[in-house]
Amino acid sequence: MKPIQVGLLGIGTVGRGTFEVLMRNQEEIKRRAGRGIEIAMVADLDTARASQVVGHHAVVVSDAQAVIANPDIDIVIELIGGYGVAKQLVLAAIEAGKHVVTANKALLAVHGTEIFAAAHRRGVMICFEAAVAGGIPIIKALREGLTANRIEWIAGIINGTTNFILSEMRDKGLAFGDVLAQAQSLGYAEADPTFDIEGIDAAHKATIMSAIAYGIPVQFDKAYVEGISKLQAQDIRYAEQLGYRIKLLGIAKRVSSKGSREGVELRVHPCLVPTKRLIANVEGAMNAVMIQADAVGTTLYYGKGAGSEPTASAVIADLVDVTRLMTADPLNRVPHLAFQPDSMSDLPILSMDEVRTSYYLRLVVADEAGVLAKITGILAQADISIDAVLQRPGSESKQETDLIILTHNCLEAHMNKAMASIQGLESVLAPIVRIRKEELS
Ligand code: NDP
Ligand code: HSE
Repeated sequence: MKPIQVGLLGIGTVGRGTFEVLMRNQEEIKRRAGRGIEIAMVADLDTARASQVVGHHAVVVSDAQAVIANPDIDIVIELIGGYGVAKQLVLAAIEAGKHVVTANKALLAVHGTEIFAAAHRRGVMICFEAAVAGGIPIIKALREGLTANRIEWIAGIINGTTNFILSEMRDKGLAFGDVLAQAQSLGYAEADPTFDIEGIDAAHKATIMSAIAYGIPVQFDKAYVEGISKLQAQDIRYAEQLGYRIKLLGIAKRVSSKGSREGVELRVHPCLVPTKRLIANVEGAMNAVMIQADAVGTTLYYGKGAGSEPTASAVIADLVDVTRLMTADPLNRVPHLAFQPDSMSDLPILSMDEVRTSYYLRLVVADEAGVLAKITGILAQADISIDAVLQRPGSESKQETDLIILTHNCLEAHMNKAMASIQGLESVLAPIVRIRKEELS
């Protein structure tokens, strides 16, 4: 049988890995897919660099539309990134009846509703395993492997760049900027690294997972997003002393308990995680996703979340899926977002005020009688119960001290109110540091 003809748009870090792994493992992949899979055409702005990578194996062009317009191309892989030209090209490929494989989480998290609807109308597949957690087959696990379950929560280290930065800062005491430059040179960081550092990339991925877990539309605009750029070295140290490690987590959680509005928490922020949890020990650019589901219990998925060949592994898995399923009736394929398009839910994304979690607070306070009593009094008034208190000499002078408070679970709205009152106390000398804490049990 004639090999499936693939058009590749963008041959940078992931595109190159995809081309090379497909060439290297072509026989093995053909035996699995039932047909050969060939990248026949490549579009990239830098045609000279692209030609160097593909040699005589594929036609190289600078105009991506020429790939889409080629009637011989069955599948288009979009590896350009971003929401601009990538969106136009993906929609054009769908319109031209091509199946699409993409690693572009930004595009799907923001414009997924429009893109999935277009693919559904046209009867083509849009596959995106590489968009979340790189080489970890987490989309397949959520969409197919766990299909019997009611998903309770997902918590993941889903940005390799920030995990790499946090690990290096903690282990080697390196400065933030130096580690970021290293992550960029290793090909982990996004074209705009603020997407990584400020939690946006992780929020794109958490948004996609929330849609598949709960059958809700992708709603990146409703996600709460906080990155690691404001994290301070002493909080990483104090967390360790208290038995915790700080990780940037992407969290999607279904809330249906009495006294709370039913909905989904969708949030990305630094978190204290108990050091004894496996996920707290995920280091470097590695990713891990923990899923709590009613039938299976807790499962954990671990692997490389970024980089050329790990991400290519996921892109090629999608190519094989499309090759196997392209002749199937579209109605018999696995739905893009795990749930049938006419069975989606309108479960709302909850506001951050409605989130219930526990907290690490660090206050720089005047070292004098009665300060702790005033602070604990305000917390008690706000119905916030304290789990532990730690006092450490302040870094600036002998007259001040660092007060670290761990709380039990409470409503974020209550914590905001209490923090505003505490911040107003004369004896509180600096902005309060607040880091959320997740026990993940
Ligand atoms: P790169 O920037 O390395 O590659 C993108 C390539 O697309 C470049 O060669 C670029 O050329 C080319 N390009 C830009 N505009 C066009 C255009 N109009 N037509 C054709 N080619 C174009 O990105 P990555 O490979 O790192 O990322 C690709 C996608 O994969 C992104 O969506 C990213 O978020 C995602 N991803 C990346 C991972 C990683 O580890 N890197 C992991 C998981 C997902 P030029 O360089 O000349 O601009
Ligand atoms: N910039 C991303 C990361 C690439 O660091 O995880 C993988 O999506």
